[in-house]
Amino acid sequence: MILKRPSEIDIMAEAAVINREALEAVEPYIQVGVSTAELNKIAEDAIISRGGKPAFKGYRGFPATLCTSVNEVVVHGIPNGQPLKEGDIVSIDIGTFYRGYAADMAKTYAVGKISDKAKRLLDVTENSLYAGIEKALVGNRLGDISAAIQNVIEAAGFWVIREFVGHGIGAEFHESPEMPNYGKAGTGPVLRPGLVLAIEPMVAESRTKVRILKDEWTAPTANKSLAAHFEHTVAISKDGPRILTAQDQTPRAEYALGGVRGA
Ligand code: MF3
Ligand code: CO
Repeated sequence: MILKRPSEIDIMAEAAVINREALEAVEPYIQVGVSTAELNKIAEDAIISRGGKPAFKGYRGFPATLCTSVNEVVVHGIPNGQPLKEGDIVSIDIGTFYRGYAADMAKTYAVGKISDKAKRLLDVTENSLYAGIEKALVGNRLGDISAAIQNVIEAAGFWVIREFVGHGIGAEFHESPEMPNYGKAGTGPVLRPGLVLAIEPMVAESRTKVRILKDEWTAPTANKSLAAHFEHTVAISKDGPRILTAQDQTPRAEYALGGVRGA
């Protein structure tokens, strides 16, 4: 795994601001009747006007700035002209390069009024992300993050998607280590200051595999159950995890107090 210097983390923090602001520019438009292609255009303009470059567009041939994944689509949905409907959920995944460094984030949104079960799926997935971030501490192991995420999801009766994983991020969009959203606490590489991780739990309502459609990207659950995805880019520091894609990028010292082992 690649450890970044503080000066590199500072640039990643700037990339993450652009990325977050671009997602925030999209948020007010996530409404019944808007198409994901329209959302994509807003995001692309927001990234470029801030001096960034859309990280997904052209990555292994992906054709757009956003991944827009509706209902049973877990990840990698391609924006299209179809209008969103009342009761849909839509995951929006966005990546930005700025001065040679990447940021990556995702959230799942409700379109109009959604079912109670869908709402719970969104809440649990987001909570699992923060449970993982709380374990992103110097001296902990990668498996501590994975296990914390899995615990929250399974305690709620939902299913951890296995086919996609979180990852290191930096000058490359995907760096080692790969980070599954399931695993055993106390296993895996020890976390060190300067490691930056894209932590991204993907959750389905019930046990399922994931398929890939003929477009070679869109990844729906095989059993059609709804899926959600939340992601932050997080820098590990001795002062606690820095959530670079959050509005407040300061290290969460309260997490560091929680349980640093051997540090
Ligand atoms: N957040 C996703 C990831 O980490 C997005 C990749 S989409 C792609 O891996 F189009 F760039 F592949
Ligand atoms: Co990612």
